[in-house]
Amino acid sequence: MPTGITIQHYTHHHAAELRPLLLEVYAEIYADAAKTDPFATVERFAQGLDGWSRRPGWTCVVGYAHGHQAVGYAYGAPLPAGAPWWGGLRPEVSPDVIEETGTRTYALSELMVRVPWRKTGTAKALHDALLDNRPEERATLLVDQEHPKVHQLYQNWGWTTLGDLRPRIEHAPLFHAMLLPLA
Ligand SMILES: CC(C)(COP(=O)(O)OP(=O)(O)OC[C@H]1O[C@@H](n2cnc3c(N)ncnc32)[C@H](O)[C@@H]1OP(=O)(O)O)[C@@H](O)C(=O)NCCC(=O)NCCS
Repeated sequence: MPTGITIQHYTHHHAAELRPLLLEVYAEIYADAAKTDPFATVERFAQGLDGWSRRPGWTCVVGYAHGHQAVGYAYGAPLPAGAPWWGGLRPEVSPDVIEETGTRTYALSELMVRVPWRKTGTAKALHDALLDNRPEERATLLVDQEHPKVHQLYQNWGWTTLGDLRPRIEHAPLFHAMLLPLA
């Protein structure tokens, strides 16, 4: 954990209270991307955030410097039974690999760190704090295929790539679908 950063854990009970902060940090980090990419707008992100944070299993970690300044966050939720998450995965895999029971897989939906705290270990600390002590057997995430360095970063953190996936959401890019075993 980088010196001076504390991490707070939240659940869906805190979603309404956290929402303005999460949107503010997102807007700052994705300001350039949002100029050209309709998938990166704050409005699109807010819809996604509201969908995720409404789930009872939603969890979120926020890193703070000096006890109060948000430096980044991560959130996600377990995939429900029969979740459409894997829809469109290519190449096709054996159905048992992508069968969701409601308790099998935790989906890491977002991870972001404000620029001054990049390359400090803060991102990994948030990632680990979100995934530590999860009851699921594995985690999944989607990483944009246009961001190979981020894909590499996740590989360095132990994630493996299952295939290509484009979610059925307007303007969604092509992603690498990744998996991480949870001990
Ligand atoms: C992803 C993130 C949390 C990693 O933080 P970190 O561990 O401190 O690592 P870095 O910021 O150094 O990122 C690793 C590399 O990926 C690149 N990268 C990070 N986010 C990127 C993005 N959204 N698009 C393109 N490249 C990106 C960085 O420029 C860096 O490249 P470099 O090594 O040549 O400098 C942080 O870069 C971030 O918040 N990025 C923006 C949000 C994001 O893309 N989240 C991931 C969604 S799956």
